[in-house]
Amino acid sequence: MFWTREVSDMPDLEVVDRKDFSDVTYLLEVRHPLMTKAAKPGQFVIVMEHEHGERIPLTIADFDVERGTITLVIQAIGKTTREMQARCTVGTRLFAMVGPMGIPSHIGKAKKVICVGGGLGVAPVFPQARAYKQSGAYVIGVLGFRSRDLMFWVDKFRQVCDELIVCTDDGSAGLKGLVTAGIAQAIAAHPDIDEVVAIGPPIMMKGCAEATRPHGIKTMVSLNPVMVDGTGMCGGCRVKVGHRVKFACVDGPDFDGHEVDFEDLMARLARYKPSEREALAQWKESCRLRSDIDATGSA
Ligand SMILES: Cc1cc2nc3c(=O)[nH]c(=O)nc-3n(C[C@H](O)[C@H](O)[C@H](O)COP(=O)(O)OP(=O)(O)OC[C@H]3O[C@@H](n4cnc5c(N)ncnc54)[C@H](O)[C@@H]3O)c2cc1C
Ligand code: FES
Repeated sequence: MFWTREVSDMPDLEVVDRKDFSDVTYLLEVRHPLMTKAAKPGQFVIVMEHEHGERIPLTIADFDVERGTITLVIQAIGKTTREMQARCTVGTRLFAMVGPMGIPSHIGKAKKVICVGGGLGVAPVFPQARAYKQSGAYVIGVLGFRSRDLMFWVDKFRQVCDELIVCTDDGSAGLKGLVTAGIAQAIAAHPDIDEVVAIGPPIMMKGCAEATRPHGIKTMVSLNPVMVDGTGMCGGCRVKVGHRVKFACVDGPDFDGHEVDFEDLMARLARYKPSEREALAQWKESCRLRSDIDATGSA
């Protein structure tokens, strides 16, 4: 695991590319040659955008050893992710990054797999889809978006999938419906599916686990509880799996979806909402004050 802090004579942590997929979803390609050599599908990093910033976990959505870069795909939902959206342009540098963290996804000997990504979960499931393809498996991708205008990486998935089913909630592209409709379609066409991997919001992963349970298909999910240190020390990321307590940062983040207590995960995620709302409101107010000062030219 590497802990890298921005220092002036090191090119690491520079944002070398940025793409905006929508108003809220953006991609940062960050230079970190050492990290790319160590990164494996399913792992994540903890990032600090600036010296006084919050540490936030982000999945390594792609890594390129030749370019020496890792790719992060981020949804701007709260203070830190919006702050990064506003500040991280090409040529800027992140303050610190630690990783790769977490147990890499187990890419076993499955011959036929379905890789499911819902919304932002499309990005983190990509390295697993590619790894299965490289292992010789027949890969069926199921990607779900609320609507056509939120779609991203569909072409990238086509390169690593033998079949691709795109679902949109509103029917503006592909199959109308949730990813569970895509899973049902894939299972109906392929009764010999060995494994399903599903990444997305907890409610989506729960739906996927319930869709595969009657078929007895092993279903792995990637859990996203609130993480603080990422080293198994604080207990912030504890989740219940098979009536046992696990720490997602060191025991996961991948777990057997049929064993996960999703109700407990969702309740724990909801617990911090008031302070998250307060942090966002304070940040917005400070941005407003700064732009008022800039407009009047007074300090
Ligand atoms: C292993 C893992 C991988 C993740 N990968 C990605 C990713 O690739 N792209 C992405 O956009 N998001 C990812 N997340 C979620 C991301 O960390 C949160 O969206 C981010 O921390 C929100 O911070 P904020 O200040 O913008 O929002 P806040 O308003 O502080 O929080 C918004 C929501 O984000 C979650 N969250 C907040 N703080 C944390 C934290 N310290 N750790 C985990 N979740 C938190 C909570 O659900 C919270 O309700 C991942 C989370 C985990 C645990
Ligand atoms: S983040 Fe602290 S124990 Fe996992």
